[in-house]
Amino acid sequence: MTAPLTRSVRGQPAPEIAEPVIEVRDLTKRYGRNIIHQHLNFDVRRGEIVSLVGGSGSGKTTLVRQILNLESPTSGTVKVFGQDQATIDPDAARLMRSRVGMLFQQGALFSSLSVFDNIAQPLRELGKVPPDLLRDIVMLKLEMVGLPCKHASKMPAALSGGMVKRVGIARAIALEPELLFLDEPTAGLDPKASDEFVELIGTLHRALGLTVVMVTHDLDTMVALSTRVAVLADRKVLVAAPVEEAAGVDHPFIREYFLGLRGRRALQALPPERRAKLPAAALEPASSELPL
Ligand SMILES: Nc1ncnc2c1ncn2[C@@H]1O[C@H](COP(=O)(O)OP(=O)(O)OP(=O)(O)O)[C@@H](O)[C@H]1O
Ligand SMILES: [Mg+2]
Repeated sequence: MTAPLTRSVRGQPAPEIAEPVIEVRDLTKRYGRNIIHQHLNFDVRRGEIVSLVGGSGSGKTTLVRQILNLESPTSGTVKVFGQDQATIDPDAARLMRSRVGMLFQQGALFSSLSVFDNIAQPLRELGKVPPDLLRDIVMLKLEMVGLPCKHASKMPAALSGGMVKRVGIARAIALEPELLFLDEPTAGLDPKASDEFVELIGTLHRALGLTVVMVTHDLDTMVALSTRVAVLADRKVLVAAPVEEAAGVDHPFIREYFLGLRGRRALQALPPERRAKLPAAALEPASSELPL
């Protein structure tokens, strides 16, 4: 399990919030006549964990794909580590890929490759990693995500959903990225596996100084991990702020998402000093035993 690493970073402060690593300016994205993003602005600084939330189809995955340069904006600019993604040259793009890890919403693993080979794949793509070193790195990553090395030879079909996500994260951190994208990392996980996931990301954030951008519908995970929450609605980032501030913005999606029963229940997990900043509507009783 994650215990040794978790123990070693317990009590260690979260990484400092530093310079911008993602700068999205005046972004518009269309598919045919379907406008997904319009005049969208979005920033992430080093050391942050930013949750990207929004209704299904609001364009969360599409925004991440444009930041990763897997998709081009219709207009506007995307900079990652200060590099404009539209004009980046192939060498810089290769370097960029080693600085950024990604856990995709769908198809987290190659089904025809073992756990070992899935995690080794980004290292092999780099080329010239001696086999002994490759083995050590893969085993270290498995240990970091809390999986015993006996799972290395298994095929993805033989793993539970939670284990698949862990292996996906091990692969995403194989090249020791500075920036990690997670698209719906807890979807399909039971509450215990989700809690373990929260601990894992919190640990990696502290241990590696990772910056994390996480797309999620999972309110508990969002409240537990985010330094800021970016709300995607009306084709733009409506607000990007600590959750207690974002919850106070007057907008139908925000009222429904943060101030509904599930939202209010999740917000109760905030520490008292942050709960004190919530709007009054978020503090109404959320337990099913209490009258609403
Ligand atoms: N390659 C594509 N071609 C055409 N339309 C697309 C393409 N990719 C996404 N879209 C459309 O863009 C919109 C946003 O899709 P996206 O997958 O970004 O949403 P999302 O916020 O990630 O949703 P979910 O929460 O369901 O994952 C949808 O209307 C989708 O149909
Ligand atoms: Mg999506």
